[in-house]
Amino acid sequence: AARSLAELEDALRAFDGCALKQTASNLVFGDGNPQSRVMFVGEAPGADEDRIGVPFVGAAGQLLDRILAASGLKREEVGIVNCLRCRPPGNRKPEPDEARNCNEWLTKTLELMKPKVLVALGGSATKHFLGVETGITRLRGRWLELEADGHRCPALATFPPAALLRMPLNKRYVWRDLLTVQEKLEQLGT
Ligand code: URA
Ligand code: URA
Repeated sequence: AARSLAELEDALRAFDGCALKQTASNLVFGDGNPQSRVMFVGEAPGADEDRIGVPFVGAAGQLLDRILAASGLKREEVGIVNCLRCRPPGNRKPEPDEARNCNEWLTKTLELMKPKVLVALGGSATKHFLGVETGITRLRGRWLELEADGHRCPALATFPPAALLRMPLNKRYVWRDLLTVQEKLEQLGT
């Protein structure tokens, strides 16, 4: 029943139906501008994010900042959340039931933020949140339609920054994908 992101964050902090919370150090709610027209959705907090309580602050996050800057988007201007708000032990992949539970919170976040465009950073966001099974290599760069509880917006998937640390040559695709996002935002107007 949250009417604002602050209320939603309070509710999530008070919620004890998530086992991942028991092993995590911090709940990682989100970062950036909650009024942004573009929302980036990653997979889950890693060790650095868990320690600090902010998404995308470790090596992958620093790369994300550079990618955003290079494409004219500032971290402070976009919304950044993860599918899972708590770190899975040892960074294992989210279990389907964990992802399902977290989806309800993510859907509510989306409803409150009302972004014009969503960017899914990697296969976890596309699989668990957008419900698309196609692998990220084939899926990236194509527009999908996200519909969650009455909120509809175009969504684009791209490689997650952590994968770019391992395969830097793929940065060119992410760069291209973010230009596509910029074009879409221009088409949609203000
Ligand atoms: N900004 C926030 O403060 N919270 C979110 O969930 C997303 C962006
Ligand atoms: N990878 C993610 O998907 N999210 C983070 O917050 C950090 C790394």
